[in-house]
Amino acid sequence: MSPDRELRVSKIRNGTVIDHVTGGQALNVLAILGIDGSEGFGVSIGMNVPSDRLGRKDVVKVEERELSQSEVDVLSLIAPEATINIIRDYEVVEKNRVERPDSVTGVLSCPNHNCITNEDEPVRPRFDVVSEGVRCGYCSEIIREDIAEHIDV
Ligand code: CTP
Ligand code: ZN
Repeated sequence: MSPDRELRVSKIRNGTVIDHVTGGQALNVLAILGIDGSEGFGVSIGMNVPSDRLGRKDVVKVEERELSQSEVDVLSLIAPEATINIIRDYEVVEKNRVERPDSVTGVLSCPNHNCITNEDEPVRPRFDVVSEGVRCGYCSEIIREDIAEHIDV
């Protein structure tokens, strides 16, 4: 563990620590989780924290909240090295690396205005993960590098 003088963000009692987030992506992680601070629970972020493995990394700590599989799936696209740590009573009780999924459902919205997922139909957006980015399962529009700009808020 780092000496206290290097600890930038406090430990949390209960919740989720998203660690080893690609430097600069912390705010996009919050967007994926739909967190804007109005929820009332504690949220701490560290940006550009020195990391042995990544050089620099972001860290997002969310108290009293766990992540859904669709949130983790989208997160893996912008932070492929992230680890998700579940904290209970100050202890790390579970640690998982994110994995690039075959598809993501919800969270992202299709950039094609004519896509059925943007009509008033009860259709949940679904994207296939392909080498260039993610491809809409309904209209085949591809979102390339700018995935974070299509987070459905
Ligand atoms: N953490 C926290 N609150 C706790 C326990 C851990 O905020 N009560 C944070 C740590 O600061 C770290 C992450 O959760 O950012 C993972 O904790 P831990 O597994 O103890 O750290 P490392 O061994 O450094 O993790 P890794 O091996 O994944 O790099
Ligand atoms: Zn579409």
